[in-house]
Amino acid sequence: MRIGPYELQSNLFLSPLAGYTNLPFRLVVREIGGLDWTTTDLVNARSLIEKNPRALQMIRTAPAEKRLAVQLFGAVPEEMRDAALIVESLGIASVDINMGCPVKKVTGIGGGSAMMTELGKTAALVRGMVDAVKIPITAKMRLGWDENNLTAPDLARVLEDAGVAAIFVHGRTRAQGFGGTVNLAGIRSVVQAVKRIPVIGNGDVTTPEAAKHMFTETGCAGVSIGRGAFYNPWIFAHTQHYLQTGELKTEPGYPELVKVMRRHLDLMIEVFGEDHGCRLFRKPASWYAKRFGPAKEFKKGVTQFGTKAEFEALLANYEKWRAPFCDEHGELLPKFRPAPMVATFMLDPDDPAVLRRAAIPVPKGPVDVW
Ligand SMILES: Cc1cc2nc3c(=O)[nH]c(=O)nc-3n(C[C@H](O)[C@H](O)[C@H](O)COP(=O)(O)O)c2cc1C
Repeated sequence: MRIGPYELQSNLFLSPLAGYTNLPFRLVVREIGGLDWTTTDLVNARSLIEKNPRALQMIRTAPAEKRLAVQLFGAVPEEMRDAALIVESLGIASVDINMGCPVKKVTGIGGGSAMMTELGKTAALVRGMVDAVKIPITAKMRLGWDENNLTAPDLARVLEDAGVAAIFVHGRTRAQGFGGTVNLAGIRSVVQAVKRIPVIGNGDVTTPEAAKHMFTETGCAGVSIGRGAFYNPWIFAHTQHYLQTGELKTEPGYPELVKVMRRHLDLMIEVFGEDHGCRLFRKPASWYAKRFGPAKEFKKGVTQFGTKAEFEALLANYEKWRAPFCDEHGELLPKFRPAPMVATFMLDPDDPAVLRRAAIPVPKGPVDVW
């Protein structure tokens, strides 16, 4: 598929997740494969213009990230335009505009999902950005503010006319937050609303089958995966393989999990320094451990380590503890293997297994107080 001038090697995308989709994680999933386009966490346009150190850290990239979009949020046209110019001047491939964030800090200034309520104003802001830069501008939206205001198809249409190169759509309204299930018919109505540009569907894709289901049910040109990539950084490689061959790859074994986990930690240390990098890595390390099978001894120590050497000691200790659960080749005995992930659309939403998988915290309570 294409976005603006770029011919992409994959129609799968990593969705931005503020606080999670940092450079080390993006590089790790890219190295595993199946992914050609990534997006940064949302960055405040004004903070970028003011060269706020945190904003600069958030747009930090590496040569391997040839196709990177910096996601901007803001509602002041001049600021969004100037921030896009900064992104372009840094050689970054694209700018994405956040039109979906439901959090008050963002909607309160007219950004995020508030942009879905004022189509004319939003289209004018976007046109100002498109006219100012040569790199493609894309938009990430929800289905609308609430179920009485499903503005995504109309917004997609006016944004296509304003010159956006692609639309990413999370199949929920702002009012839904992260609750309920994703509305595939809603995504399909966005696909049908545009004439030329690709629409990338998003929401609740946690397995290759769920990605295929999204493609067939919506007619979208691409699928974007957020939380599913944290449960499983192999999801892009496995989904691409499944879409091409119809064959489901087996889950990565322990040696592969540890190899990728070590690489992830090394990148965290490279980007954030040893102390901060190790601290930040405690959470992702515990996600890798979800696929280890029995992992009590690892989980006990994973909240403590502060250096690479301590992490290696934790792993060595864990491997000794783990040996009785394994055969002579070091493979887990079948009865200890973790259950494979099942796509949400194949499950009963009332099944507690669906809730247990919610490892990434999402804001809770009524959306109006977020
Ligand atoms: C913790 C968290 C942070 C998020 N941050 C962003 C963000 O910075 N920008 C954005 O456009 N969407 C953000 N999202 C929304 C995701 O990109 C995605 O649309 C949503 O999680 C649904 O996709 P998924 O089910 O594959 O995760 C965030 C979601 C979560 C859970």
